[in-house]
Amino acid sequence: MTEASAPDVIVCPGGPVLLRGDHVVRDENGGEHHTTRPVSAVCRCGKSALKPWCDGTHKLVPADKKP
Ligand code: FES
Repeated sequence: MTEASAPDVIVCPGGPVLLRGDHVVRDENGGEHHTTRPVSAVCRCGKSALKPWCDGTHKLVPADKKP
């Protein structure tokens, strides 16, 4: 897979969604957040203290509660 054909949205099983490149993420309150890194991780478990971004807390979520 070449860089040009690689997906820019990747769902990590039990973890975040990875966004490559420039994106705007709308949070649950309607706030918009622009990605600032080459790859940004968006929380899917709802437990991050840095929402909408993943802070790694999903690793502590029991397997049956992971996204
Ligand atoms: S997916 Fe990583 S903290 Fe929620």
